[in-house]
Amino acid sequence: MSRNILPEPPDELKQLSNSLCSKIRDEFGNDGMIPFSRFMEMALYEPGLGYYSAGLHKLGESGDFITAPELGSLFAACLANQVREVAGTLGNYDILETGAGTGKLAADLLRELAPDQLPDRYLVLERSADLRQVQRRRIDAEAPGLVDRVEWLEQPPQTGWQGVLIANEVLDALAVERFRIGDDGVEQLCVSQQTGQFSWAVRKAPATLEKAVAHVTAGIGTSLQSGYQSEINLHTAHWLETISSQMTRGLALFIDYGYPRNEFYLPERSDGTMMCHYRHRAHDDVFFWPGLQDITAWVDFTALAEAADLCGLDVEGYSSQTMFLLGCGLDCILADHSMTSADGGLEISTQARQLTLPGMMGEKFQVMGLGRGLDQALRGFSLQDLRYRL
Ligand SMILES: C[S@@+](CC[C@H](N)C(=O)[O-])C[C@H]1O[C@@H](n2cnc3c(N)ncnc32)[C@H](O)[C@@H]1O
Repeated sequence: MSRNILPEPPDELKQLSNSLCSKIRDEFGNDGMIPFSRFMEMALYEPGLGYYSAGLHKLGESGDFITAPELGSLFAACLANQVREVAGTLGNYDILETGAGTGKLAADLLRELAPDQLPDRYLVLERSADLRQVQRRRIDAEAPGLVDRVEWLEQPPQTGWQGVLIANEVLDALAVERFRIGDDGVEQLCVSQQTGQFSWAVRKAPATLEKAVAHVTAGIGTSLQSGYQSEINLHTAHWLETISSQMTRGLALFIDYGYPRNEFYLPERSDGTMMCHYRHRAHDDVFFWPGLQDITAWVDFTALAEAADLCGLDVEGYSSQTMFLLGCGLDCILADHSMTSADGGLEISTQARQLTLPGMMGEKFQVMGLGRGLDQALRGFSLQDLRYRL
């Protein structure tokens, strides 16, 4: 989609973006560029100016994109069934939600669980100070009396806990490197500027990036053609370690759009997977008003499984979102609602379609469950096991 047909932001937001752009320019090195990963990091998280840090309306109908929890409460009702099953084995347990958005999933999950099923603590690890406030207000309003169980963490837990970790659409919001296969080897895609506008630039890839790309090509068993460009997250294992190292027993659920590695780096996907969202339009212009739009990259689930291995976590399951939600009892929840709701289940059926249809969220969203010390079959992964594709 060309930037000409994206809606024009209002002037005060353009000013915010211009302030961010000058901060980004301040970081240009002597060669007049910064790695794309640093640009993405600042565009999303620069305090007070980045997309997730500047107090804009991001998620939901009035924002730029909609996530599964924001569609309604069906997603949370399904997750609650998986939480109950794990909690039944653990006894006392906590939930740790990382990247909690507007707090909708937290509010719905807390409401969904009966008083004797509630976690001891609902921990929220949220990077955006602005969103932490939004979450507190929303949980207070929508899960009355339960906000006292919620604790916002400044950093990942530093002492042991057991329970369920949930990360919905968080991995896709982490800054990634972009690389290109050049005639003389791997190149790092960087951001520079020409006539006052950000533009792409390339330089020889640093050794860490070169090594990571070599690992990818060894894994897919074929070389990438000259000119091929894509993304890679160099920090997945480190990130996973920091959020999960203190989980002594439990299940970590990662829900995101992504592929196993050999589908991620297909020859036809020769320009990578980056996507931007602005006012419910998806497009690929990462330089459109930095700070005012979301920038995402799809997830390499094989990389997440490899990271799990390094962190001593077991890959308990990997499936499409559709099959995971069905395993969690989506059809029974729908049937119950249809019997009891005033509209005969119309609204919840619409949610179910959005969550499960292949052309909507059903197939492009995938779920990976990582466990530690769990010795039980998980209902979410009972209907489909795609681990062989990793
Ligand atoms: C695309 S939003 C998804 C929000 C929510 N999970 C949902 O599904 O509606 C990404 C969220 O992850 C948060 N986030 C990004 N990086 C993070 C990190 N390293 N630690 C914790 N939260 C992070 C963002 O601030 C935001 O709340």
